[in-house]
Order: sequence, then structure tokens, then C-alpha cells
Amino acid sequence: MALLLSLLTVLVVLSCGLSGSVGCVLPQNHILLSNDSLVLLSQMQRISTWSCPNDTVDFRFPRGIINGIQVQEAQAISVLQGMLQHIFDLLLTDHASSAWNTTLLNQLRMGLSQQLKDLEPCLVQEMKEQGTALSSQGPTRAVERYFWGIFLYLKKKKYSDCAWEFVRVAIMRSLSSVITLQERLSDMD
Ligand SMILES: *[C@@H]1O[C@H](CO)[C@@H](O)[C@H](O)[C@H]1NC(C)=O
Ligand SMILES: *[C@@H]1O[C@H](CO)[C@@H](O)[C@H](O)[C@H]1NC(C)=O
Ligand SMILES: *[C@@H]1O[C@H](CO)[C@@H](O)[C@H](O)[C@H]1NC(C)=O
Repeated sequence: MALLLSLLTVLVVLSCGLSGSVGCVLPQNHILLSNDSLVLLSQMQRISTWSCPNDTVDFRFPRGIINGIQVQEAQAISVLQGMLQHIFDLLLTDHASSAWNTTLLNQLRMGLSQQLKDLEPCLVQEMKEQGTALSSQGPTRAVERYFWGIFLYLKKKKYSDCAWEFVRVAIMRSLSSVITLQERLSDMD
């Protein structure tokens, strides 16, 4: 809700300034930031999933959606934003703070927050062109369901170190797809 409100504020502020429908350009370093996040996440590993046989899980990443050739620019931005926001929300919790090295976690949070901020103008433009329709479409919903599954799993496993390790791996998987989407978007420009 807070995000929606801040987006609406930006929308109101910017709608006077934007003319026509120019292609939304992501900053050059957008992919690099995702790469940095991946590096941080790999540094955060403390245990191995091999030592957690009872917590094995398949979150069923919506791979088809990312690979789908039908993904349009606006849809890709919506999915990209959704993934980054869900990852950010997961890592912003107190449970995450007690599970991970705070120094690394804070760096990760800062990077993700920067990426979300960079995406705001794109989202504003997308909302201007398509309204809020995109947020209720299949791919955005699939991403939501995926992260909801992660949330439920963590809760069920009482935020154990083992559970967080599986989630860390899942987040890295998601970030690889974020990079795929970013590459696709920069090819579109
Ligand atoms: C991301 O990092 C890897 C090494 O971890 C490197 O091979 C790759 O080229 C980087 N990608 C970009 C786009 O910087
Ligand atoms: C996994 O579960 C079994 C049966 O509940 C238990 O005996 C075993 O200690 C557990 N293993 C680990 C690594 O927690
Ligand atoms: C957290 O990670 C940083 C950077 O790798 C390291 O210098 C620091 O010692 C770690 N802190 C703990 C409590 O492990």
C-alpha cells in the first residue's frame, strides 16, 4: 500500500512533465547492481542445504513466465519490479536480520532499494499507459504466488537456519531471472 501511494505521488508529480510515450530507459548499472546482489547472497551462505535433508523444498519458480517469448516491455517491467520488491520485503524482516550477517544484508538491502528507486519512473510511465491492469495479470500474479509460497514455508519452518538457506538459494535463482529480464529490457531499448 505504501508503495502504491508513493507511486501515485510520483505519478501525479511526473505526469505533467512527461510527454508522449518515450521508451523507459533503465540505468546502465541496473544489471551490475543485480550482479552485486548475487555476489553478496553467495557470501551470505553459512550452511549447506545438504545438512538440511528434512527441509528440502521446491518453490516452483515460474520459469515459463520469464522465458516466455510473449513478455512485453511493460509486462517485463511489472514482473521485474514485483520480483525485486518481494525479495526486498523478505530481506527487510527482523527474521532475516537475525538469520544473516547484518553487514552483508544491509548492503544487499541498499542495492535492492536503489534498483526499486531506479524503476519508479518506468513504473509511473507504465501505469500512465496501461493503468493498474498489469498488476492483476498472470505473470505478475505468478511471481506473487511464488513469493507467498516462500513466506509460508519460512513461517512453517519457524525461520530456521535450514529454511533460510533454501530461501537464500531461491532468491539467487530469482535474481538470475531478474538479470535475464534486465538484459531483455536493455535489448529492447
Ligand atoms: C556478473 O558477475 C559474473 C561473475 O560473478 C561475471 O562473469 C559476469 O560477467 C557479470 N555480469 C555482468 C553483466 O556484469
Ligand atoms: C530429520 O527427521 C528425522 C525424523 O523426524 C530425524 O530423526 C532426523 O534427526 C532429522 N534430521 C535432521 C538433520 O534434522
Ligand atoms: C559479516 O561479513 C563481513 C564482510 O564479509 C565480515 O567482515 C564480518 O566479520 C561478518 N560479521 C560476522 C558477525 O560474521
